[in-house]
Amino acid sequence: MKEIVAKAVGISKDYWDGPTLRRVLQHADLEIYSQQLTMIVGPSGSGKTTLLSILGLIIPPSEGKVYIQGQDLSDRSEDEITTFRLRSIGFVFQNFTLVNALNVLENILIPVGIQGSTVTPAHQQKAKQLLWQFDLEQHVHSYPEHLSGGEKQRVAIIRALMNDPPLLLCDEPTSVLDQINSAIVLKTLQELAQESNRAVVMITHDPRAIKYADTIMEIENGVLKTQNEVPPDA
Ligand SMILES: Nc1ncnc2c1ncn2[C@@H]1O[C@H](COP(=O)(O)OP(=O)(O)OP(=O)(O)O)[C@@H](O)[C@H]1O
Ligand SMILES: [Mg+2]
Repeated sequence: MKEIVAKAVGISKDYWDGPTLRRVLQHADLEIYSQQLTMIVGPSGSGKTTLLSILGLIIPPSEGKVYIQGQDLSDRSEDEITTFRLRSIGFVFQNFTLVNALNVLENILIPVGIQGSTVTPAHQQKAKQLLWQFDLEQHVHSYPEHLSGGEKQRVAIIRALMNDPPLLLCDEPTSVLDQINSAIVLKTLQELAQESNRAVVMITHDPRAIKYADTIMEIENGVLKTQNEVPPDA
């Protein structure tokens, strides 16, 4: 069943621009649902990454509240927020952010180490199972420099899934990929949303990406304009 995984109520963000305080996100309200691939579109500088960073509890809003699985963490300590984020939110970025000195399996196991856990055979098994699911089993011991852009991005997605987060946030995950790799990554993200109880949110500039969306949010000049659910047959 479709559930609200993330919710923002009246969130705004102000940044100092020299001596003046500038509002880059204005009173946004939104709901992010499980089993949906939600895309955030809008011109450069419109506030997309700011919105995603607030939803991912990386930066706090200047006003308003964010609820992840119904929880408001604004009063918690930095450490508590970090622990919550590691368990509940996965991040995928434009440039893969893989560590070149580590092989694929070691890259995927990074979040386990950050959480303070020791890597166990069960973690290794899970990583290998995800690699198999994503058709990357032959690359377990490869280094990032030997992978295509699409393969690197799928490794980054697997890494973000290691803790089974209910919310996966992706900032322009296909922008440096060619058409074929872009399509593979988009299909992967769409399936991840549909085949699990997970919510996937991605920012995109890529017009080819839109057809994979279940919901599209448009942002312009810091104002969230629309939240359109794409009809199933679109
Ligand atoms: N840390 C910061 N300090 C000051 N201003 C910032 C900061 N981060 C972002 N901004 C400003 O906020 C506005 C929105 O930035 P944001 O990165 O959210 O845009 P975006 O829609 O993601 O753009 P792009 O498509 O180019 O990635 C921009 O004008 C940017 O300059
Ligand atoms: Mg951005």
